Amino acid sequence: MLSTRPPAIGDDPASLDAIWAALRPESPTAAPVIRAVMIASVDGTTTVDGRSGGLGTPTDRLVYDAMRARADLVLVGSGTAVAEDYGPAEVSPVWADRRTGPAPIILVLTRSLPDELIDLCADTDDRMQIAAAHETDPRLVGVARARGVTVHVLDPGPTGAAVRALATRLHAAEVDFEGGPRLLGELLAEGAVDDLVLSVAPEAIVGGDDSTLTPGHEHGYTRVPMRVVSAFSCPLGGLYTRWVVGEASR
Ligand SMILES: NC(=O)c1ccc[n+]([C@@H]2O[C@H](COP(=O)([O-])OP(=O)(O)OC[C@H]3O[C@@H](n4cnc5c(N)ncnc54)[C@H](OP(=O)(O)O)[C@@H]3O)[C@@H](O)[C@H]2O)c1
Repeated sequence: MLSTRPPAIGDDPASLDAIWAALRPESPTAAPVIRAVMIASVDGTTTVDGRSGGLGTPTDRLVYDAMRARADLVLVGSGTAVAEDYGPAEVSPVWADRRTGPAPIILVLTRSLPDELIDLCADTDDRMQIAAAHETDPRLVGVARARGVTVHVLDPGPTGAAVRALATRLHAAEVDFEGGPRLLGELLAEGAVDDLVLSVAPEAIVGGDDSTLTPGHEHGYTRVPMRVVSAFSCPLGGLYTRWVVGEASR
């Protein structure tokens, strides 16, 4: 009989196999696969206190780490890299036995090449590099390179095509694209994203994304815990879910 109760994934070996397999590209292709990841709460909030980290669960972390462990390259927008204080990628011990070779390079996309981004990427042993738009001021490219930062200047034309061309030159088969929302929108609109892994955090966050505008709450937002009890898909590809308000019992 069909059931709409989604299976719960833990961190046991069978669950890890399932997560790893779920991220495998649909069909083998010579071109790099660009797989985006994003997290939102049930009501669509994407940040808490200006960062997405406040939304994750331990399972979300497992999936996020698996994506990094699969990837040859981690692509991220300058806004996210700075807001989330990015550092070099590490391969999580949970996935270390499935990954051969070093952790993926973090590649930060920028147009204006701000000083704070150069600071973030300097002294990382080339583990954080910059992909600058074709029109980026060459003087700033020179400043970053003088600090020892590798800067790839993207081809002219659409960003998605330029990013794909760079990923191909860097021999990347799987690219983990970690956002943020502005860059994700741009690349989606250009048809440059192949997959999107969406995590839904088990809560609604009332006043989340614009918490500074909501007076009367300690942090400007209210967290309402929820748990999913039913989920199903449809032939057109939609996902339908039912959430019960209240904490999941552990
Ligand atoms: N919920 C989630 O899943 C999630 C995921 C990631 C991030 N976030 C949150 O989202 C926020 C940041 O996201 P965001 O949307 O503001 O910024 P973002 O998408 O991370 O970065 C935007 C920046 O990317 C660069 N950029 C954009 N288009 C470009 C192009 N065509 N060529 C070269 N560079 C380009 C520009 O950098 P320059 O300004 O340097 O020129 C632009 O300002 C943070 O609060 C973060 O915590 C949430």
